Amino acid sequence: AQSAKESLYVVSQYAAAFFVKQLWETDEGKGIGLSYFKERGFREDILKKFEVGYSPDVWDAMTQSAINAGHKLEFLEATGLSIKNDNGKIYDRFRGRVMFPIHNFTGRIIGFGGRTLKTDKNVPKYVNSPESEIYHKSNVLYGLFHAKKAIRDLDNCYLAEGYADVLSVHQAGIENVVASSGTSLTVEQIKLIGRFTQNITILFDGDAAGIKASLRGLDMILEEGLNVKIVSFPDGHDPDSYMHHVGAGAFKTYLEENRKDFILYKANVLLKDAGNDPIKRAGIIRDIVESIAKIPDPIKASVFIRECSSLLEIDEHILLSELNKMRSAKL
Ligand code: UTP
Ligand code: MN
Ligand code: MN
Ligand code: MN
Ligand code: MN
Repeated sequence: AQSAKESLYVVSQYAAAFFVKQLWETDEGKGIGLSYFKERGFREDILKKFEVGYSPDVWDAMTQSAINAGHKLEFLEATGLSIKNDNGKIYDRFRGRVMFPIHNFTGRIIGFGGRTLKTDKNVPKYVNSPESEIYHKSNVLYGLFHAKKAIRDLDNCYLAEGYADVLSVHQAGIENVVASSGTSLTVEQIKLIGRFTQNITILFDGDAAGIKASLRGLDMILEEGLNVKIVSFPDGHDPDSYMHHVGAGAFKTYLEENRKDFILYKANVLLKDAGNDPIKRAGIIRDIVESIAKIPDPIKASVFIRECSSLLEIDEHILLSELNKMRSAKL
């Protein structure tokens, strides 16, 4: 007999195929889901590659279809695809949403993100699968299965925030991209990238939340000993919206020309609201040295101290003594 864990993979695969079929072969799926993707500028080959789908806007279409095909409710519930309410009524977690299946890095489907098509602010934009025996969010990167070969070949991993970003960056011909979808970046996710490359380029959203997340991510990546660069986007764009805004060619060029060293990025972000206030500026310098202090390799750290010194016009020796103070405080 098949193990319980295997059964969770099997029902997840069943659901993914069901959602794909709905998107491409039903009037509701084509009329609402597929046209939504097309309006956003996604190409069919990208939609097929990532196996996106559509969940019909009724109570339990997926659950009924799975049961009729011989799958057990117990496993559907264990993946969170089916939910039993207090009255014992069964319903689908995902209804009336475009569906992004989440693969583990061997390519098996372990969960889903579903995006609403409604503009109603009271409806959550994304609904995600819950944790299950096969889906541990903090250990998963969306898109890694499709990106891992390119990450290795190009020795760099672009790290974005969302499902749509991964699809759009792929559509621009850049395949070494993953997203931390549904959680803030974790140490486990960074270690996972570290199996394929030591170089991460952050492509977070240009909104306040995205900038904050990028600074947090940056320190964690440094702490893991990986190298980090950052590309930021103008006017609140995210990688997805910017790619569709400027087109694939210009997007590629933009990434190449706007890849910033983490110090330069951090300095730019922090200096923006410090102005000429010397106390605030001193605080920023300390903040940057604190990031450098997270780099385990002392030779690498000293290179960044030099860079920081020339960028902020501070004597290198002062920065070095600050660095050493922070390092010994950590011991
Ligand atoms: P964003 O709000 O930036 O969404 O959240 P997005 O990816 O740009 O989506 P589009 O372009 O509007 O379709 C970034 C990521 O955070 C997670 C999702 O993984 C999303 O892709 N998220 C966001 C959630 O899990 N739940 C939410 O309600 C919102
Ligand atoms: Mn697959
Ligand atoms: Mn955002
Ligand atoms: Mn976004
Ligand atoms: Mn977006």
